[in-house]
Amino acid sequence: MKFTLYMPTKVFYGKGCVKEQAKEFKSFGNKVLIVTGKSSGEKSGALKDVKDVLTSLSINYWIFDKVENNPSLETVFKGSLLARENSVTLIIAIGGGSPLDAAKAIAALSTNNIEPVELLTTSIKIPSLPIIAIPTTAGTGSEVTPYSILTAKQFRTKKNFYSPYSFPTITFLDYQYTCSLPNQVTIDTAFDAFSHLLESYLSIKSTPQSNIYAIEGLKAFSKCLFAISNKNFTNEIRDQLLYASYMGGLAITLTGTTIIHAMGYSLTYYKELSHGHANTLFIGEYLRFNKQTVEEKINKVLTILKFYSITELETYLLKHVGEKPDTSQEEINKFATLAMTQGSVKNNPTSVKESDIIKIYQKVLLR
Ligand SMILES: [Fe+2]
Repeated sequence: MKFTLYMPTKVFYGKGCVKEQAKEFKSFGNKVLIVTGKSSGEKSGALKDVKDVLTSLSINYWIFDKVENNPSLETVFKGSLLARENSVTLIIAIGGGSPLDAAKAIAALSTNNIEPVELLTTSIKIPSLPIIAIPTTAGTGSEVTPYSILTAKQFRTKKNFYSPYSFPTITFLDYQYTCSLPNQVTIDTAFDAFSHLLESYLSIKSTPQSNIYAIEGLKAFSKCLFAISNKNFTNEIRDQLLYASYMGGLAITLTGTTIIHAMGYSLTYYKELSHGHANTLFIGEYLRFNKQTVEEKINKVLTILKFYSITELETYLLKHVGEKPDTSQEEINKFATLAMTQGSVKNNPTSVKESDIIKIYQKVLLR
Protein backbone atom coordinates (compact mmCIF):
# COMPACT_ATOMS: atom_id res chain seq x y z
CA MET A 1 0.00 0.00 0.00
CA LYS A 2 1.24 3.50 -0.79
CA PHE A 3 -0.45 6.86 -0.28
CA THR A 4 -0.07 10.45 0.86
CA LEU A 5 -2.46 12.12 3.26
CA TYR A 6 -2.75 15.83 3.94
CA MET A 7 -6.12 16.98 5.31
CA PRO A 8 -5.34 19.87 7.65
CA THR A 9 -8.76 21.51 8.12
CA LYS A 10 -10.02 21.73 11.70
CA VAL A 11 -13.72 20.83 11.65
CA PHE A 12 -16.48 21.91 13.99
CA TYR A 13 -19.70 20.16 13.11
CA GLY A 14 -23.11 20.74 14.67
CA LYS A 15 -25.95 23.12 15.37
CA GLY A 16 -24.76 26.39 16.88
CA CYS A 17 -21.04 25.63 16.42
CA VAL A 18 -20.03 29.14 15.24
CA LYS A 19 -21.13 30.87 18.42
CA GLU A 20 -20.13 27.98 20.67
CA GLN A 21 -16.59 28.06 19.28
CA ALA A 22 -16.26 31.87 19.03
CA LYS A 23 -12.79 31.74 20.60
CA GLU A 24 -11.51 30.03 17.43
CA PHE A 25 -11.80 33.37 15.58
CA LYS A 26 -9.30 35.03 17.93
CA SER A 27 -6.08 33.48 16.63
CA PHE A 28 -5.76 35.31 13.30
CA GLY A 29 -5.26 39.00 14.11
CA ASN A 30 -7.94 41.66 14.23
CA LYS A 31 -8.54 42.46 10.55
CA VAL A 32 -10.84 40.16 8.63
CA LEU A 33 -12.35 40.08 5.15
CA ILE A 34 -15.68 38.28 4.90
CA VAL A 35 -16.24 36.85 1.42
CA THR A 36 -19.82 35.97 0.56
CA GLY A 37 -22.45 36.00 -2.17
CA LYS A 38 -25.02 38.70 -2.80
CA SER A 39 -27.59 37.13 -0.48
CA SER A 40 -26.47 33.73 0.84
CA GLY A 41 -24.67 35.16 3.87
CA GLU A 42 -27.68 37.17 5.04
CA LYS A 43 -30.42 34.68 4.24
CA SER A 44 -28.68 31.75 5.86
CA GLY A 45 -28.14 33.55 9.17
CA ALA A 46 -24.43 32.73 9.02
CA LEU A 47 -23.31 36.29 8.30
CA LYS A 48 -25.18 37.62 11.33
CA ASP A 49 -23.65 34.98 13.60
CA VAL A 50 -20.16 35.74 12.32
CA LYS A 51 -20.63 39.51 12.65
CA ASP A 52 -21.88 39.02 16.23
CA VAL A 53 -18.83 36.91 17.07
CA LEU A 54 -16.37 39.35 15.49
CA THR A 55 -17.98 42.34 17.20
CA SER A 56 -17.87 40.56 20.57
CA LEU A 57 -14.14 39.94 20.05
CA SER A 58 -13.47 43.53 18.85
CA ILE A 59 -12.23 42.24 15.49
CA ASN A 60 -12.54 44.66 12.54
CA TYR A 61 -14.11 43.29 9.38
CA TRP A 62 -14.83 44.27 5.80
CA ILE A 63 -17.41 42.49 3.67
CA PHE A 64 -16.85 41.54 0.02
CA ASP A 65 -20.29 40.38 -1.14
CA LYS A 66 -19.73 40.58 -4.89
CA VAL A 67 -19.19 36.88 -5.50
CA GLU A 68 -21.41 35.70 -8.35
CA ASN A 69 -22.38 32.12 -9.20
CA ASN A 70 -19.32 30.57 -10.82
CA PRO A 71 -16.86 33.27 -9.72
CA SER A 72 -14.62 34.87 -12.33
CA LEU A 73 -10.95 35.76 -12.13
CA GLU A 74 -11.96 39.44 -12.27
CA THR A 75 -14.12 39.07 -9.16
CA VAL A 76 -11.48 37.29 -7.08
CA PHE A 77 -8.93 39.92 -8.11
CA LYS A 78 -11.26 42.67 -6.82
CA GLY A 79 -11.65 40.78 -3.56
CA SER A 80 -7.89 40.47 -3.17
CA LEU A 81 -7.47 44.23 -3.68
CA LEU A 82 -9.87 44.86 -0.80
CA ALA A 83 -7.94 42.38 1.36
CA ARG A 84 -4.61 44.05 0.53
CA GLU A 85 -5.91 47.63 0.99
CA ASN A 86 -6.99 46.78 4.52
CA SER A 87 -4.08 44.47 5.39
CA VAL A 88 -6.44 41.72 6.50
CA THR A 89 -4.96 38.63 8.09
CA LEU A 90 -7.92 36.25 7.77
CA ILE A 91 -10.55 35.46 5.13
CA ILE A 92 -13.93 34.21 6.33
CA ALA A 93 -15.87 32.52 3.51
CA ILE A 94 -19.64 32.24 3.90
CA GLY A 95 -21.85 30.68 1.25
CA GLY A 96 -22.12 27.88 -1.26
CA GLY A 97 -19.33 26.63 -3.47
CA SER A 98 -18.89 29.94 -5.26
CA PRO A 99 -17.99 32.13 -2.23
CA LEU A 100 -15.89 29.34 -0.72
CA ASP A 101 -13.96 28.80 -3.94
CA ALA A 102 -13.61 32.56 -4.51
CA ALA A 103 -12.24 32.97 -0.98
CA LYS A 104 -9.47 30.46 -1.70
CA ALA A 105 -8.42 32.45 -4.75
CA ILE A 106 -8.66 35.77 -2.88
CA ALA A 107 -6.58 34.33 -0.02
CA ALA A 108 -3.90 33.25 -2.52
CA LEU A 109 -3.88 36.51 -4.51
CA SER A 110 -3.61 38.51 -1.27
CA THR A 111 -0.16 37.11 -0.54
CA ASN A 112 1.22 36.17 -3.99
CA ASN A 113 2.16 38.89 -6.47
CA ILE A 114 0.80 37.13 -9.54
CA GLU A 115 -1.79 37.79 -12.22
CA PRO A 116 -5.15 36.11 -11.42
CA VAL A 117 -4.85 33.82 -14.46
CA GLU A 118 -1.60 32.47 -13.04
CA LEU A 119 -3.63 30.75 -10.34
CA LEU A 120 -4.68 28.37 -13.11
CA THR A 121 -1.35 28.02 -14.85
CA THR A 122 1.32 27.92 -12.13
CA SER A 123 1.54 26.79 -8.54
CA ILE A 124 1.50 29.47 -5.87
CA LYS A 125 4.70 29.89 -3.89
CA ILE A 126 3.67 31.87 -0.80
CA PRO A 127 1.15 30.56 1.72
CA SER A 128 -2.34 32.04 1.31
CA LEU A 129 -4.09 33.99 4.04
CA PRO A 130 -5.81 31.59 6.44
CA ILE A 131 -9.47 30.84 5.67
CA ILE A 132 -12.41 30.03 7.89
CA ALA A 133 -15.11 28.39 5.73
CA ILE A 134 -18.80 28.32 6.62
CA PRO A 135 -20.92 26.53 4.01
CA THR A 136 -24.55 27.54 3.50
CA THR A 137 -25.30 24.80 0.97
CA ALA A 138 -24.85 21.04 1.29
CA GLY A 139 -23.08 20.02 -1.88
CA THR A 140 -19.71 21.51 -2.63
CA GLY A 141 -17.57 20.00 0.12
CA SER A 142 -15.22 22.93 -0.61
CA GLU A 143 -14.99 23.63 3.13
CA VAL A 144 -12.53 20.74 3.49
CA THR A 145 -10.91 20.59 0.04
CA PRO A 146 -7.95 22.46 -1.47
CA TYR A 147 -9.90 22.98 -4.73
CA SER A 148 -11.24 26.26 -6.10
CA ILE A 149 -13.26 26.15 -9.33
CA LEU A 150 -13.05 29.44 -11.21
CA THR A 151 -14.57 30.67 -14.45
CA ALA A 152 -11.81 31.64 -16.84
CA LYS A 153 -12.82 33.48 -20.00
CA GLN A 154 -9.28 32.94 -21.31
CA PHE A 155 -9.93 29.20 -21.40
CA ARG A 156 -13.66 29.48 -22.20
CA THR A 157 -14.54 27.07 -19.40
CA LYS A 158 -14.36 26.49 -15.65
CA LYS A 159 -10.93 25.59 -14.34
CA ASN A 160 -9.72 24.07 -11.14
CA PHE A 161 -7.16 25.94 -9.03
CA TYR A 162 -5.51 23.71 -6.47
CA SER A 163 -2.92 24.34 -3.80
CA PRO A 164 -2.04 22.73 -0.50
CA TYR A 165 -2.22 26.30 0.87
CA SER A 166 -5.91 26.49 -0.06
CA PHE A 167 -7.33 24.13 2.52
CA PRO A 168 -9.50 26.15 4.89
CA THR A 169 -7.81 26.34 8.29
CA ILE A 170 -11.13 25.91 10.09
CA THR A 171 -14.63 25.03 8.95
CA PHE A 172 -17.90 25.36 10.83
CA LEU A 173 -20.66 23.06 9.57
CA ASP A 174 -24.14 23.89 10.86
CA TYR A 175 -27.16 22.55 8.96
CA GLN A 176 -29.24 25.51 10.18
CA TYR A 177 -27.45 27.70 7.62
CA THR A 178 -28.88 25.53 4.81
CA CYS A 179 -32.50 25.71 5.97
CA SER A 180 -33.39 28.80 3.90
CA LEU A 181 -32.31 27.24 0.61
CA PRO A 182 -34.98 26.89 -2.07
CA ASN A 183 -35.96 23.27 -2.76
CA GLN A 184 -34.34 23.10 -6.20
CA VAL A 185 -31.04 24.49 -4.93
CA THR A 186 -31.16 21.92 -2.12
CA ILE A 187 -31.66 19.12 -4.65
CA ASP A 188 -29.10 20.31 -7.21
CA THR A 189 -26.43 20.74 -4.54
CA ALA A 190 -27.31 17.39 -2.91
CA PHE A 191 -26.79 15.70 -6.28
CA ASP A 192 -23.43 17.49 -6.64
CA ALA A 193 -22.46 15.94 -3.29
CA PHE A 194 -23.68 12.57 -4.58
CA SER A 195 -21.51 12.92 -7.69
CA HIS A 196 -18.47 13.67 -5.48
CA LEU A 197 -19.12 10.52 -3.43
CA LEU A 198 -19.75 8.40 -6.50
CA GLU A 199 -16.82 9.70 -8.55
CA SER A 200 -14.45 9.38 -5.61
CA TYR A 201 -15.55 5.82 -4.90
CA LEU A 202 -15.05 4.78 -8.53
CA SER A 203 -11.90 6.87 -9.16
CA ILE A 204 -8.67 5.06 -10.01
CA LYS A 205 -7.19 7.10 -7.15
CA SER A 206 -9.63 5.67 -4.59
CA THR A 207 -7.99 4.18 -1.50
CA PRO A 208 -9.35 2.13 1.39
CA GLN A 209 -9.52 5.38 3.37
CA SER A 210 -11.26 7.46 0.67
CA ASN A 211 -13.74 4.61 0.25
CA ILE A 212 -14.65 4.89 3.93
CA TYR A 213 -15.60 8.55 3.41
CA ALA A 214 -17.43 7.77 0.18
CA ILE A 215 -19.46 4.91 1.63
CA GLU A 216 -20.24 6.85 4.80
CA GLY A 217 -21.47 9.77 2.67
CA LEU A 218 -23.48 7.50 0.38
CA LYS A 219 -25.21 6.00 3.42
CA ALA A 220 -26.12 9.49 4.66
CA PHE A 221 -27.32 10.48 1.16
CA SER A 222 -29.44 7.32 0.94
CA LYS A 223 -31.42 8.46 3.99
CA CYS A 224 -32.44 11.59 2.08
CA LEU A 225 -33.80 10.09 -1.16
CA PHE A 226 -37.41 9.90 -0.02
CA ALA A 227 -37.28 13.41 1.43
CA ILE A 228 -35.91 14.72 -1.86
CA SER A 229 -38.85 13.14 -3.70
CA ASN A 230 -41.29 14.74 -1.29
CA LYS A 231 -39.34 17.98 -0.94
CA ASN A 232 -39.67 17.50 2.78
CA PHE A 233 -36.43 18.89 4.13
CA THR A 234 -36.64 18.47 7.89
CA ASN A 235 -33.78 19.49 10.17
CA GLU A 236 -32.69 15.86 10.36
CA ILE A 237 -32.55 15.61 6.56
CA ARG A 238 -30.66 18.91 6.26
CA ASP A 239 -28.14 17.56 8.77
CA GLN A 240 -27.71 14.32 6.78
CA LEU A 241 -27.27 16.23 3.51
CA LEU A 242 -24.61 18.47 5.05
CA TYR A 243 -22.84 15.44 6.46
CA ALA A 244 -22.97 13.68 3.06
CA SER A 245 -21.55 16.80 1.41
CA TYR A 246 -18.75 17.01 3.96
CA MET A 247 -17.91 13.33 3.41
CA GLY A 248 -17.87 14.01 -0.32
CA GLY A 249 -15.37 16.83 0.23
CA LEU A 250 -13.08 14.58 2.25
CA ALA A 251 -13.40 11.82 -0.35
CA ILE A 252 -12.51 14.00 -3.37
CA THR A 253 -9.63 15.60 -1.47
CA LEU A 254 -8.04 12.15 -1.62
CA THR A 255 -9.13 11.14 -5.12
CA GLY A 256 -10.27 14.11 -7.21
CA THR A 257 -13.38 13.82 -9.37
CA THR A 258 -13.70 12.06 -12.75
CA ILE A 259 -15.42 12.65 -16.10
CA ILE A 260 -18.79 13.72 -14.70
CA HIS A 261 -17.26 16.98 -13.50
CA ALA A 262 -15.07 17.34 -16.59
CA MET A 263 -18.15 17.02 -18.82
CA GLY A 264 -20.48 19.09 -16.68
CA TYR A 265 -18.39 22.28 -16.69
CA SER A 266 -19.28 23.20 -20.27
CA LEU A 267 -23.00 22.90 -19.55
CA THR A 268 -22.54 25.43 -16.77
CA TYR A 269 -20.25 27.75 -18.76
CA TYR A 270 -22.15 27.69 -22.08
CA LYS A 271 -25.69 26.64 -21.10
CA GLU A 272 -25.92 28.19 -17.62
CA LEU A 273 -27.05 25.01 -15.90
CA SER A 274 -26.32 24.83 -12.19
CA HIS A 275 -23.28 22.69 -11.40
CA GLY A 276 -25.35 19.96 -9.71
CA HIS A 277 -27.89 19.89 -12.54
CA ALA A 278 -25.12 19.59 -15.14
CA ASN A 279 -23.43 16.72 -13.29
CA THR A 280 -26.67 14.83 -12.72
CA LEU A 281 -27.44 14.57 -16.44
CA PHE A 282 -24.31 12.44 -16.95
CA ILE A 283 -24.52 10.05 -14.00
CA GLY A 284 -26.47 7.24 -15.75
CA GLU A 285 -24.25 7.11 -18.84
CA TYR A 286 -21.13 7.49 -16.68
CA LEU A 287 -22.13 4.36 -14.76
CA ARG A 288 -22.90 2.42 -17.96
CA PHE A 289 -19.57 3.48 -19.49
CA ASN A 290 -17.65 2.29 -16.40
CA LYS A 291 -19.76 -0.78 -15.60
CA GLN A 292 -17.32 -3.38 -16.91
CA THR A 293 -14.38 -1.85 -15.06
CA VAL A 294 -15.94 -1.30 -11.64
CA GLU A 295 -19.10 -3.40 -11.66
CA GLU A 296 -18.74 -4.59 -8.08
CA LYS A 297 -18.43 -1.04 -6.77
CA ILE A 298 -21.38 0.17 -8.84
CA ASN A 299 -23.49 -2.67 -7.47
CA LYS A 300 -22.48 -1.66 -3.95
CA VAL A 301 -23.61 1.93 -4.60
CA LEU A 302 -26.95 0.70 -5.97
CA THR A 303 -27.39 -1.54 -2.92
CA ILE A 304 -26.71 1.31 -0.50
CA LEU A 305 -29.17 3.55 -2.33
CA LYS A 306 -31.68 0.67 -2.69
CA PHE A 307 -32.01 0.88 -6.47
CA TYR A 308 -32.19 -2.30 -8.58
CA SER A 309 -30.41 -0.91 -11.63
CA ILE A 310 -28.50 2.00 -13.10
CA THR A 311 -31.60 2.91 -15.11
CA GLU A 312 -33.75 3.05 -11.98
CA LEU A 313 -31.21 5.35 -10.27
CA GLU A 314 -30.92 7.49 -13.40
CA THR A 315 -34.71 7.85 -13.67
CA TYR A 316 -34.90 8.95 -10.05
CA LEU A 317 -32.15 11.54 -10.46
CA LEU A 318 -33.41 13.00 -13.75
CA LYS A 319 -36.93 13.35 -12.35
CA HIS A 320 -35.63 15.83 -9.78
CA VAL A 321 -33.48 18.15 -11.90
CA GLY A 322 -34.25 20.44 -14.83
CA GLU A 323 -34.30 19.55 -18.51
CA LYS A 324 -31.27 18.84 -20.65
CA PRO A 325 -30.26 21.87 -22.73
CA ASP A 326 -30.65 22.05 -26.53
CA THR A 327 -27.21 21.27 -27.86
CA SER A 328 -25.84 20.78 -31.37
CA GLN A 329 -23.30 18.22 -32.54
CA GLU A 330 -20.87 21.06 -33.18
CA GLU A 331 -21.20 22.18 -29.55
CA ILE A 332 -20.71 18.61 -28.35
CA ASN A 333 -17.44 18.38 -30.26
CA LYS A 334 -16.26 21.60 -28.61
CA PHE A 335 -17.39 20.46 -25.13
CA ALA A 336 -15.60 17.13 -25.57
CA THR A 337 -12.34 18.86 -26.49
CA LEU A 338 -12.66 21.09 -23.42
CA ALA A 339 -13.53 18.14 -21.16
CA MET A 340 -10.36 16.36 -22.24
CA THR A 341 -8.30 19.33 -20.94
CA GLN A 342 -9.58 18.73 -17.39
CA GLY A 343 -7.19 16.81 -15.13
CA SER A 344 -10.06 14.83 -13.62
CA VAL A 345 -10.44 12.83 -16.86
CA LYS A 346 -7.34 10.87 -15.89
CA ASN A 347 -9.01 9.67 -12.69
CA ASN A 348 -11.81 7.88 -14.51
CA PRO A 349 -11.90 4.15 -13.78
CA THR A 350 -12.12 3.31 -17.49
CA SER A 351 -9.54 4.99 -19.69
CA VAL A 352 -11.23 7.67 -21.82
CA LYS A 353 -10.65 9.00 -25.33
CA GLU A 354 -12.23 12.12 -26.79
CA SER A 355 -14.43 9.92 -28.98
CA ASP A 356 -15.81 8.25 -25.81
CA ILE A 357 -16.65 11.65 -24.33
CA ILE A 358 -18.42 12.64 -27.57
CA LYS A 359 -20.50 9.45 -27.43
CA ILE A 360 -21.52 10.08 -23.81
CA TYR A 361 -22.50 13.68 -24.63
CA GLN A 362 -24.53 12.42 -27.60
CA LYS A 363 -26.37 9.82 -25.53
CA VAL A 364 -27.16 12.34 -22.80
CA LEU A 365 -27.96 15.44 -24.84
CA LEU A 366 -29.19 14.26 -28.24
CA ARG A 367 -31.25 11.15 -27.53
FE1 LIG B 1 -18.90 19.36 -7.77
